[in-house]
Amino acid sequence: MRLTAFFATIAAIVSVNAIAVPRDVWVPRIISPDSTTVWTMGQTVNVTWDNSNPPAVITKGSAVALNKADIPIPKYNQPGGFLAEDFDLLTGFVEVTVPTDLESADDYSITLFGDSGNRSPMFTITN
Ligand SMILES: *[C@@H]1O[C@H](CO)[C@@H](O)[C@H](O)[C@H]1NC(C)=O
Repeated sequence: MRLTAFFATIAAIVSVNAIAVPRDVWVPRIISPDSTTVWTMGQTVNVTWDNSNPPAVITKGSAVALNKADIPIPKYNQPGGFLAEDFDLLTGFVEVTVPTDLESADDYSITLFGDSGNRSPMFTITN
């Protein structure tokens, strides 16, 4: 019985901690690119986001992926292919080089990955 009470106490402590320390989920709002943005292939451009109110701990890595017509472009949605990866989300911006193997179109978007993925509006990439 005493052992049962001991484990019950441990279980209670563990569950209280689980409630007291929720996992931070931070979805920073993308500022640029927006719907008026035009990127030129080969150009170095900034991706910027709202870095106010970050969580105390950022639990996941960071990446910028590229999509077309709201569909991830596989080549630019994987480690080694992201437009940028493993940068500091707290700085609020990261410079990326616009790929040169794209077609000119006005339906590109980026996904900024932190704890969760946040997608930009569609914007234009031209050559
Ligand atoms: C990106 O933003 C940073 C901070 O404002 C600035 O120092 C840098 O020159 C910008 N880079 C480009 C390519 O605009």
